[in-house]
Amino acid sequence: MRVIPAGPLKGELTVPGDKSITHRAIILGSLADGITEITGALRSDDCRRTAKALAAMGAVVEELGDDQLRIQGCGLRGLREPEEVLDVGNSGTTIRLLAGVLAAQPFFSVLTGDQYLRKRPMARIAVPLRSMGAAILGRAGGNLPPLAIMGARLRAIDFVSPIASAQIKSAILLAGLFAEGETAVTEPFLSRDHTERMFEAVGIPIRRNGLSVRVQAATSIPPLHMSIPGDFSAAAFFLVAALVIPGSELTLRGVGINPTRTGLLDALASMGAVVELSQHRMASGEPVADLSVRSHALRGTEVGGTLIPRMLDEIPAFAVAAAVAKGPTIIRDAAELRVKEVDRLAALAKELRRFGAEVEERPDGLVLRGGASLSGCDCDSWGDHRMAMALAVAGLAARGTTSISDPLCVSSSFPDFWARLSTILPGAAVSVEG
Ligand code: S3P
Repeated sequence: MRVIPAGPLKGELTVPGDKSITHRAIILGSLADGITEITGALRSDDCRRTAKALAAMGAVVEELGDDQLRIQGCGLRGLREPEEVLDVGNSGTTIRLLAGVLAAQPFFSVLTGDQYLRKRPMARIAVPLRSMGAAILGRAGGNLPPLAIMGARLRAIDFVSPIASAQIKSAILLAGLFAEGETAVTEPFLSRDHTERMFEAVGIPIRRNGLSVRVQAATSIPPLHMSIPGDFSAAAFFLVAALVIPGSELTLRGVGINPTRTGLLDALASMGAVVELSQHRMASGEPVADLSVRSHALRGTEVGGTLIPRMLDEIPAFAVAAAVAKGPTIIRDAAELRVKEVDRLAALAKELRRFGAEVEERPDGLVLRGGASLSGCDCDSWGDHRMAMALAVAGLAARGTTSISDPLCVSSSFPDFWARLSTILPGAAVSVEG
């Protein structure tokens, strides 16, 4: 993908539906009784993997119109043993959340994924699910996919997670829907709470107490009628692009602003940015707003602690803002980025240096010297959707042409990213090479 800077970003746009919420809606809809109807769903490779896996176990998932899904659920006890290995592609959310469901099914299943996913740690979900009673085997002592799962009658656990991770929390809460007793998960900091909100929206009672959440076995799930907000993580790339490209003025409509997801807004505010939120509303238990932003000089900042789980997926975009901000930015407590689709700390350090940014890599973060005037370069997405989109933003803020390898990996979360970028760049600056 060739990116040629074409001046300011102007206008307004919508972003596709939230990836995390779409996965959860497909899973709960497949376990519900009757017909679930979802609008605003994300149609991306990752979400299709979730749908396909559930279809292999008996759910009927249909794509209608641009962003609608219609799911004929199987009922809470209605999934059937898949004939094939379930291939979740690049999707960490699919493998971890489905493992929670499969741990409780009276059948055998195998989950695998692409070359990136097969390197990602699964002990974080396999260990608690085993302690609930499931048999889970995997490579590397049970840590790496493929995972082979023989489900069982589960017993509730009280799990204290060492990591603030919504995938861990959600895997255990989903298993908890089938377990005898009350299942509890406690996390060190609050991670995204979409599972909890969706449980409440469909009438599954949960009990929250600080950083703990509890759920009991459910008897059935009613069908869902949901409207999914725009994905804040997709909006993040446009927000940062508009901030760092002089003269930009952009409005993003209908974006989810769940506070467990919007740490980037706090981080950008501490750099001097002004993002205006308007038209506040709720969609299926999730807060939504329009976001307006203009380009603004940024100063360096420090991010860490409880802010990190709230901006985990936005660190690639944030690092681009930090590279051009005046003064240094320190990102700490972010070692989890090393086990994302790729090691994003290593990837960001290496790729942003190609643009001329000064970046120091630390075990749990990055130090960006700031003040870089970026120069276009040949860079590599590492096959990671969020890296590709962050590098596109860097390319738009740089002098000269940037060429990004493996750009189509954006299809994990944002298949028409490149097309939408062109709509707000009057100079049609983005083109696929070759
Ligand atoms: C997700 C949780 C986060 C996030 C991922 C989506 C989810 O992962 O990075 O993109 O939908 O639950 P962790 O739970 O590993 O932090």
